[in-house]
Amino acid sequence: MSTSASAVAPAKINLSLRILGVRDDGYHEISTVFHAVSLCDEVRIRPGAVGSGCSVSTSGDRIESVPTDEGNIAVRAVRELARFAGIDQVDVVIEITKVIPVAAGMAGGSADAAAALVAARAMWGVPVDDDDLHAIAAGLGSDVPFALIGGTARGLGRGEVLASVLSTSSLHWVIAVSDGELSTPAVYAEWDRLVAAGDCQPSDGADDRDLLAALRSGVAPDIAVHLVNDLQPAAISLRPSLTDVLAAGTELGALAGLVSGSGPTCAFLAADRDEAIGLAAELSGLGLVRAVRYAVGPHPGARVMP
Ligand code: C5P
Repeated sequence: MSTSASAVAPAKINLSLRILGVRDDGYHEISTVFHAVSLCDEVRIRPGAVGSGCSVSTSGDRIESVPTDEGNIAVRAVRELARFAGIDQVDVVIEITKVIPVAAGMAGGSADAAAALVAARAMWGVPVDDDDLHAIAAGLGSDVPFALIGGTARGLGRGEVLASVLSTSSLHWVIAVSDGELSTPAVYAEWDRLVAAGDCQPSDGADDRDLLAALRSGVAPDIAVHLVNDLQPAAISLRPSLTDVLAAGTELGALAGLVSGSGPTCAFLAADRDEAIGLAAELSGLGLVRAVRYAVGPHPGARVMP
């Protein structure tokens, strides 16, 4: 057993997110293509004093809304792993370094949970295999299993039923981080409202065949025309200014732009690295968003740092 362990896990963009309907448990049945990008949070775990329980500290940008108590998803992850492994007394110190924008549609909390799972498994040296870790991850949140595997993957169910997808080239992204947050349940609820009002409808039987073929060929302009997010109208309905951000990115030469997951972050696909860096500089200069980042995908899933 080592005395401490650190792990990193990536943010995600949904290259495609189609909502097929609402389930009896209140979740939405989706068909999605996840794509991990090179913005990673880091989670470091070390043993705490006997009887101290779980303590959390966070550092990074806009961390005010990240809980530092039992409500933090990294704490829930460590406790679930301990329960599975038969560890009764959990006394750990968890340090989270946030790079992924908070509550921004890039699954930053899910990344923290995934990083916490692999870090705690390494620290305790418990024999929990990847299938069991995946099952624990799915119980923590719909996007946590993908943060474990990374890369590019199709997601069904709530998003937790995964199959890796062949993606033959690096994709260059500009990530535009809007001010404020959008809560995922609120955006799904807005989608429900738009459907009830007749302003939106569920996707029927979408199979993403064209997007998957474009990812196999690796040609960015072909991938660009197949990017789709059914949550985008709901995110825009709650945050109309996102329309201006999306328009600005495409006017500045992005191949395509879309709201990332439930937003409010927008992701723009560029032709190559130089185009992305130029676009990031120009978009930043417009002052429409709080921060602009460059990222490349696909990126590996959660992994322990040496
Ligand atoms: O699974 P997770 O805890 O990340 O989901 C947060 C919330 O997002 C859920 O409580 C639900 O309101 C909404 N959600 C959904 N359908 C999904 C994923 C999330 O309705 N497929």
